[in-house]
Amino acid sequence: MKLQNKSMIITGSGRGIGEYIAKRLAREGANIVVTGRTTKDIENVSKEINDAGGRSIFIRGDVTREEDVKKVIQKTITEFGKVDVCVNNAGIGLKKYIWETDVKEFEEVMEVNVKGTFLYMKQIIPEMERNGGLIINISSGAGKEGIPLLGAYCASKFAVIGLTESAAAEVENIKIVALCPGSVDTGMFRRLFPGEKADLKPYEVAEKVADICANPGKYRQGQSIELY
Ligand SMILES: NC(=O)c1ccc[n+]([C@@H]2O[C@H](COP(=O)([O-])OP(=O)(O)OC[C@H]3O[C@@H](n4cnc5c(N)ncnc54)[C@H](OP(=O)(O)O)[C@@H]3O)[C@@H](O)[C@H]2O)c1
Repeated sequence: MKLQNKSMIITGSGRGIGEYIAKRLAREGANIVVTGRTTKDIENVSKEINDAGGRSIFIRGDVTREEDVKKVIQKTITEFGKVDVCVNNAGIGLKKYIWETDVKEFEEVMEVNVKGTFLYMKQIIPEMERNGGLIINISSGAGKEGIPLLGAYCASKFAVIGLTESAAAEVENIKIVALCPGSVDTGMFRRLFPGEKADLKPYEVAEKVADICANPGKYRQGQSIELY
């Protein structure tokens, strides 16, 4: 139980990669906050963690709304006393040529993937600076290299790396890294690329996150950790 009693917020953990991360970290003894917009999903994941002997609560929240982000952080502190780890995992995908992408669609991708990560760091860094902490921002292989049909998504994931590197250089007491997985077999991937085989299973991403949490010293401040 390497992460016993560490308090962790995992955004977008009602399904997909976030669900695997939440359950994996719970098995290491961490106190897990499951959050996302769909109450049924976050309630189920939280219940499964508790039924398996872990400790978890669920808090509904949209990462694009600053008041929701503040509420999730405050309720976490009320319940568990502090926040040790924040995994900014919530994200949405979009597969379209740039010239076919509506402005609204572009804005939505940037709102969730970039503004969501920005808002959590903005609100959590002052809390974490007191006792130390770890922030893992889920970028993507698409944050390292432009990919046809993924223009808006790539722009958002490159931006997550920029936010990560800037924040990492601003703080004193917090480890901040980005994790950049290749394609992962989740609902998002299957919706965007029906019939194609993903590079990774979600448990492999969760395993890497667990390693970063248990051994943050293995990784450089501000590092983009690639996983394929
Ligand atoms: N799948 C891949 O191939 C892949 C590869 C590299 C990186 N990633 C990244 O990994 C992360 C997870 O992706 P996934 O494949 O697991 O996707 P997914 O299965 O679609 O899950 C996305 C999660 O994000 C949550 N979410 C979306 N918008 C939100 C918002 N505004 N506020 C709060 N939560 C929100 C969703 O819950 P609600 O809709 O209920 O809010 C859901 O729990 C994303 O950042 C994605 O870009 C994915």
